[in-house]
Amino acid sequence: MRLRRSSARASAPGKVVLFGEHFVIYDNPAILAAIDRRVNVTVHVNTSGSINITSDLGLIASFEGSTFHLLKGTTETKTILAPLCECARLVLSERGCNLGLDIELVSNLPESVGLGSSAACCVAITAAVDSLFHEPDRYWVCSKAAESERLIHKDSSGADCNISAFGGMMYFVKSKGFTNIYSKKELSLGLINTGKKHSTANLVSSVKKFKDINRFSFKVLASLSNAICQKAFAAIKEGDEQMLGNLMSQNHVLLQEIGVSDKTIDELVDLCLTNGACGAKLTGAGGGGSVVVLVPHNEDGSKIFFDGIGKNGWGSESIPVKVDYNGVLVA
Ligand code: PMV
Repeated sequence: MRLRRSSARASAPGKVVLFGEHFVIYDNPAILAAIDRRVNVTVHVNTSGSINITSDLGLIASFEGSTFHLLKGTTETKTILAPLCECARLVLSERGCNLGLDIELVSNLPESVGLGSSAACCVAITAAVDSLFHEPDRYWVCSKAAESERLIHKDSSGADCNISAFGGMMYFVKSKGFTNIYSKKELSLGLINTGKKHSTANLVSSVKKFKDINRFSFKVLASLSNAICQKAFAAIKEGDEQMLGNLMSQNHVLLQEIGVSDKTIDELVDLCLTNGACGAKLTGAGGGGSVVVLVPHNEDGSKIFFDGIGKNGWGSESIPVKVDYNGVLVA
């Protein structure tokens, strides 16, 4: 395919998993919301033939065929950037074009804390590179980004790429795809970042071990998660925040049972509830990461909650978030 331009920009949002993380990998439903925090990608065609990636995490590397050159960063730079290089290469090979690219990533989405930054990077890179050739199709971007995300964690459900590509709120089942959910009432969501980074791949494999050892219990927990998702779908549509909050707290108990919560997360969930939240739970893979909280949708509810969290020392780590309805954007 012929190039239609020599540079492009795209951005893609992160996400919170409101219900069903981990169980979604085993084809149970999950409910996700895209959030108003994004990864921004700029792509320029270069004449060197190599793929050069710069990230605002302080990482710079160059990929020349199978040779890796570390220009700035730590020993982890290759692990972080190589899948992103493959992501760009996948698009180039699909479009039958072997080009050198300079890729720059700027993100306001904290990474490795359950907010879908890997998926957002894959979606934004896929869209930016594809838009060098033509107007990208969201479904195509989503499916190619999900292929690339599997290089980062091979058992990925693909949920994160779907929500990042399409935005909004969705009910997602791996084998069936997604259904959008529209709420009668705006939901006031917040995030608290524990600052403890995790590896999604390690947590996913620890849950697999739990499942293999505790087959029956896992089946019961998965069916409870499934039932919570059905009720949550209805509660979101109705804008019933008390019911939704209650279901989030029930979902958190299931995540404790499969061993992905920890003391800090559990204490934060309790802290949220004592400060007026309708509900709270860990979001994403767990093992640290972030807590998602639903607060009553009125000025007092939000103020009382964030003041209370601030007094308990978590002020700088807690932020209100809005649902992003744009999904991936190309400029
Ligand atoms: O922590 P994150 O943003 O990587 O979210 C992972 C969600 C899981 O359900 C644990 C994995 C998946 O692929 O759905």
